[in-house]
Amino acid sequence: MTDTKPRILIARKIFPEVVERLARHFDVQANDADVHWTPGELAVQLADKDGVLTTGSQRIDAALLAACPRLKIVANMAVGYNNFDVPAMTAAGVTGTNTPDVLTETTADFGFALLMATARRMAEAEHYLRAGLWKNWSYDMFAGAEVHGSTLAILGMGRIGQAIARRGALGFGMRVLYHNRSRLAPELEAECRATYVDKDTLLAEADHLMLVLPYSADSHHAIGAAELSRMKPTATLVNIARGGIVDDAALAQALKDRRIAAAGLDVFEGEPAVHPGLLQVPNVVLTPHIASATVSTRLAMANLAADNLLAFFDGRGALTPVNTPQR
Ligand code: DGY
Repeated sequence: MTDTKPRILIARKIFPEVVERLARHFDVQANDADVHWTPGELAVQLADKDGVLTTGSQRIDAALLAACPRLKIVANMAVGYNNFDVPAMTAAGVTGTNTPDVLTETTADFGFALLMATARRMAEAEHYLRAGLWKNWSYDMFAGAEVHGSTLAILGMGRIGQAIARRGALGFGMRVLYHNRSRLAPELEAECRATYVDKDTLLAEADHLMLVLPYSADSHHAIGAAELSRMKPTATLVNIARGGIVDDAALAQALKDRRIAAAGLDVFEGEPAVHPGLLQVPNVVLTPHIASATVSTRLAMANLAADNLLAFFDGRGALTPVNTPQR
């Protein structure tokens, strides 16, 4: 590293031990008050910085980059990086990094938890009990959908999709179908016990549809009214990927009309706002974007983002870059 310490902004409050780690190497400006800066405020904070640790909700685009000429690296504490305009960053010579692998199993665990809560109507049942409405047993009280032995349909088959497939096939004896832009290698398909199908077959055959694809212009509203109408009325839908992949207005209507049985959603279009129609229907389990939220995984994500900054400014190159700008 050079004698003058690079200046780093940490855009949101993160683990103090990771801030301390970074402060041993960099001139760090932390955000202990956890201020949610507007894009204009973020540009002001970043104007004199060489690097920034972001959490996935700060948009890094051409306008911001033009206002931050010193910026060389943006280290996202998230595996998804749809907050990056990657071509604009590459053109500006700015490296972007994400946090793959360290959250795969934790996120897959949560996908399964949400699937089970959705299929077995756990949120609805808990609200009923808390409201003091439980007076008696009845044969069909909160009778839901079977998970074991059913058909798990996975849209998007990256690392997290594969970890979910293994859980479904090996733990729950499910038949696993998947659709992805590219088909897995035969050995990986066999290991995940997953069968590749086209998207229409995936929708039609799903007992439980799990969304794990990255958000992009291509995946915007990949699940809308037309796709929902192709699903079984008994099917459930789980989205742990990104808001915007599902047309939330269409989903709220489909849930209201019982065109599908239920949904489990950890991500929303325009979050933290939630479509009001989703708040009004009982057959949906809603969580606030917490799929990777265990203490050890979030710490691993923060440390990997920090490792990327350290490796980059040390001249070793970023560890998990998402682009390769020429500087
Ligand atoms: C991710 O890592 O992309 C998760 O959605 C957390 O932001």
